[in-house]
Amino acid sequence: MNAKETDLLKKTPTEYDIHPLIKNRWSPRKFADTPITETDLNHLFEAGRWAPSCYNWQPWRIVWGIKGSETYDRIFSHLSEFNKDWVINAPVLLLTAYKKTTPEGKDNFHALHDLGQFVAMMSIQAQHMGIAVHQMAGVNPDKAKAEFGFPEEYHVATAVALGHYGGDMDDLSDDLKDQEKAERSRNRVEYFTFQGNYVDRAELDK
Ligand SMILES: Cc1cc2nc3c(=O)[nH]c(=O)nc-3n(C[C@H](O)[C@H](O)[C@H](O)COP(=O)(O)O)c2cc1C
Repeated sequence: MNAKETDLLKKTPTEYDIHPLIKNRWSPRKFADTPITETDLNHLFEAGRWAPSCYNWQPWRIVWGIKGSETYDRIFSHLSEFNKDWVINAPVLLLTAYKKTTPEGKDNFHALHDLGQFVAMMSIQAQHMGIAVHQMAGVNPDKAKAEFGFPEEYHVATAVALGHYGGDMDDLSDDLKDQEKAERSRNRVEYFTFQGNYVDRAELDK
């Protein structure tokens, strides 16, 4: 691995060995200038397409826009002010949505879960392609839903910024620069796994 690649890795203190595609994925707030093409996007969407889902209902729906397009600007316009500040350099924006109902019109309790699996699969494929995926709750779901004509039985969940790892730290505010350099952290495995009954393990908080 050359020096530049090393600079782009974040310190990830794993306790057990995991695959580098999982270990080295992180959510940057700056991106390289390298464009992302429609072909790249099709590879990412294909990876998401093969995610498992409840009854194979595949409730995920994705709106995508490449920087410079009208769709990109329309997604951007519904982001929170915080996200707008750093997303400005992202070459692609997505809006993720899911169908809330089953084919029989009942509530699909697992739809949001399945959209999450779509994004996870897409993120691993992206990591393989050197592309970073930064998911955002900071988007106005109701306005974005209306903007893109989703019917009532859909819910907009997140926006997602995509771009190749890299870019200039000076594009970011001092606060965000610090976050960009900080070591990643997570709860210990013991915090969220139980061989029997659930136990509150707040003392193991990260
Ligand atoms: C559903 C979801 C919503 C998020 N919303 C935002 C957001 O609005 N703005 C932001 O800067 N990061 C957002 N993040 C990124 C998280 O802060 C980030 O994934 C978390 O801090 C862990 O960092 P890592 O992905 O680098 O491991 C979101 C992530 C997820 C999965």
